[in-house]
Amino acid sequence: MAVYDSFARFYDRLFAPAERRFLGRWRRETLSLIPEGSRLLELGAGTGANFEFYASPEKAISSELACEMLSFAAKKTRGNALIQADAESLPFATGSFDAAFATLVFCSIPRPENAFAELRRVVRPGGRVVLLEHVRPPGLLGMLFDLLNFATVALIDDHFNRRTAETAVASGLRLVENRRKLAGIVNLIVLENPA
Ligand SMILES: C[S@@+](CC[C@H](N)C(=O)[O-])C[C@H]1O[C@@H](n2cnc3c(N)ncnc32)[C@H](O)[C@@H]1O
Repeated sequence: MAVYDSFARFYDRLFAPAERRFLGRWRRETLSLIPEGSRLLELGAGTGANFEFYASPEKAISSELACEMLSFAAKKTRGNALIQADAESLPFATGSFDAAFATLVFCSIPRPENAFAELRRVVRPGGRVVLLEHVRPPGLLGMLFDLLNFATVALIDDHFNRRTAETAVASGLRLVENRRKLAGIVNLIVLENPA
C-alpha cells in the first residue's frame, strides 16, 4: 500500500478533528458489537486508532499491509499482536478467530471479494464480522459519489462508491444489521459467518 506508506506520518493529525467529532464514538460502537472474550482479528489496523477500544487486547491480532502504518501502530499496542498481512491472503489457519472487524478499510482493498473469502475462512462458523465503512450512499448522492470515485481512485487509491454490505452478502456472509450514518455515507455493518 504505497499510498499509506507515504501518508502514515500525517494520518493521525489529519483524522484528529473527525476522531473528536464522531469517529472516536463510532470506533467505540464498532468494538462494542464484538462478543466479549472473542479471539479477534482486525484487518487494516492502520496506525492503531482502534486499539484503545479493544475489550480483550491479549486475545487480539491486529493486521495491516503498509509498513509505515505498522510502525505507528506499534507504539499503541496494549498486549495485542501486530502483524503485516494482506487482507486478501491471510496467514491464519481456518477457523482461527471468533470475530473480525475493520474500520475504513474495504474502500482501499483492491479486490474486496477476496478479503471476504478470507474472512469466511479464518472466522469460525457462527462467528461475527463487523465493518465500519464509507460506502456509496443511496439516491442522488450516490451519483455524486460515482463521479467523485474517479478522482479518489486516481489520487489516493480510495473507492468512494463501493457497496460493501452487498459485496459481503454476495461473498456468503449473513447480514445481521446495517446501521446507516451520515445520510448513508457511512455504514456500520454487522455480519455473521454462516455455520
Ligand atoms: C483509511 S486507512 C484506515 C486505517 C484504520 N483502520 C483506521 O480506522 O484508522 C485504510 C487502511 O487499510 C490498509 N489496507 C488497504 N488495503 C489493505 C489490504 N489489502 N490488506 C491490509 N490492509 C490494507 C491501508 O494500508 C490503511 O492502513
